[in-house]
Amino acid sequence: MPRQRTMSYHRRFSLFLLLQHQKPQFLKFKPLFQLLLAYYHDHYPNHNAVPKSHIHIKPSLSSFITDSKIQSEFAHHDPGVARINNGSFGCCPAPVITALQQWQLKYLRQPDHFYYNELRQGILKTRTIIKDLVNAYDVDEISVLDNTTTAVAIVLQKTAWAFSEGTYNKGDAIIVLQYGYGAVRNSIKAYVSRAGGDVIEVHFKFPVSSNNEIISAFRKALKEGKTNGKNIRLAVIDHVTSMPSFVIPVKELVKTCREEGVDQVFVDGAHGIGCIDVDMKEIGADFYTSNLHKWFFSPPAVAFLYCRKLSKCSDLHHPIVSHDYGNGLAIESAWVGTRDYSPLLVVPSVLEFISRFEKGIHGIMERNHEAVVEMGKMLAKAWGTNLGSPPEMCAAMIMVGLPSCLGISSENDCVKLRTHLRESFGVEVHIYYRTPEDGEVEPITGYARISHQVYNKIDDYLKFRNAINQLVGNGFTCTSLLD
Ligand SMILES: Cc1ncc(COP(=O)(O)O)c(C=O)c1O
Repeated sequence: MPRQRTMSYHRRFSLFLLLQHQKPQFLKFKPLFQLLLAYYHDHYPNHNAVPKSHIHIKPSLSSFITDSKIQSEFAHHDPGVARINNGSFGCCPAPVITALQQWQLKYLRQPDHFYYNELRQGILKTRTIIKDLVNAYDVDEISVLDNTTTAVAIVLQKTAWAFSEGTYNKGDAIIVLQYGYGAVRNSIKAYVSRAGGDVIEVHFKFPVSSNNEIISAFRKALKEGKTNGKNIRLAVIDHVTSMPSFVIPVKELVKTCREEGVDQVFVDGAHGIGCIDVDMKEIGADFYTSNLHKWFFSPPAVAFLYCRKLSKCSDLHHPIVSHDYGNGLAIESAWVGTRDYSPLLVVPSVLEFISRFEKGIHGIMERNHEAVVEMGKMLAKAWGTNLGSPPEMCAAMIMVGLPSCLGISSENDCVKLRTHLRESFGVEVHIYYRTPEDGEVEPITGYARISHQVYNKIDDYLKFRNAINQLVGNGFTCTSLLD
């Protein structure tokens, strides 16, 4: 296979700025410039150096997908929006949308044939692909679901039953990170607290500066829980937290749980597959869930739940009970009443799409990481702020401090500013409110979570940078935004 060289985002960004600056002089050298571009695209075929549609670019000789092809596979994205929030809803390329529609039509054409001859085999194929991708021991460990929220309900429902059936005692606890996902924390309230379980929260500061900070906070919370005489029945640990976003050292935390006698460990990897390495044997958790519709180019909604064979999975049930109740979670989940199962069936087409990129999903993850770090640094430098974590603690999303003069003073301000950026500037980005500590001078209270996925261009981040610069230049503060 031809080797493809890559140029760092930083070098491409510098080249971009240089060309922007030099435009009038460059026009004199247009033929030379075109030649250079053609050379550049031949040698860095997957990257958008200077995307200018009027310049003729020689077709690439590489067999890997080109920049312009990537753009055409995502041509359904609203061209007016700089989409730097892949973390919320993910993305799905054109060939996968076509496959989705073909599955929907198959069902509509002859539903009985689809149900009896296609659905189960299709889902088994998806489970087998996922088993290989995440290095599980056995395909029976993998169930395919609609989303992480359902996976959480499945695991916590089992915990609630253990309380109500007397396996666990009132006051036994589950441990969860302070920055756990809001909906997951609500599920914990609904299933665990209501059943009589206690919740231990692991607290640490944001911005976060090292894995050790998280590991020691986790150890401390576990120890305190245990000295209060609690049995810790379950740990719920994010792989990549949502807001604020950073990568959690899950392997180390799972190990700590084993050393400290926590009964079971559940990793919420909603942002896992396609964003970061997900290896069941390495992580060693009892349960792991990930969406495929966030970073694995799948349409909404498809996720998997892994349950380690050794971890007594027989008492896991889908919260929606249907005909296959009692036949094992994987089989139960393959039919939960009449609905559209197409997203669960397109995973082979997703793999095909991913295989067009150099080094497949690993190459995509590496390039996304490299790009998001460079763009994060560029924005922090432009605004005189800082990143929310060291680069090695992020995957394809990174937190970037916003200028304090924007006056972000509540979560509501973050929502309003996000809406303003969408509606007035065509920028889609998620914003986090950080409560300042006592005595902080000009604290950074707002952090933008930027993401990078294959469809992103440098222009997306420049648009965001310029929007914030314009707001700052105009003396804008969040108080001017109506509720
Ligand atoms: C950490 C985390 N857990 C769970 C979820 C829920 O995922 P879904 O809405 O696909 O069920 C999300 C969604 O963003 C998340 O970030």
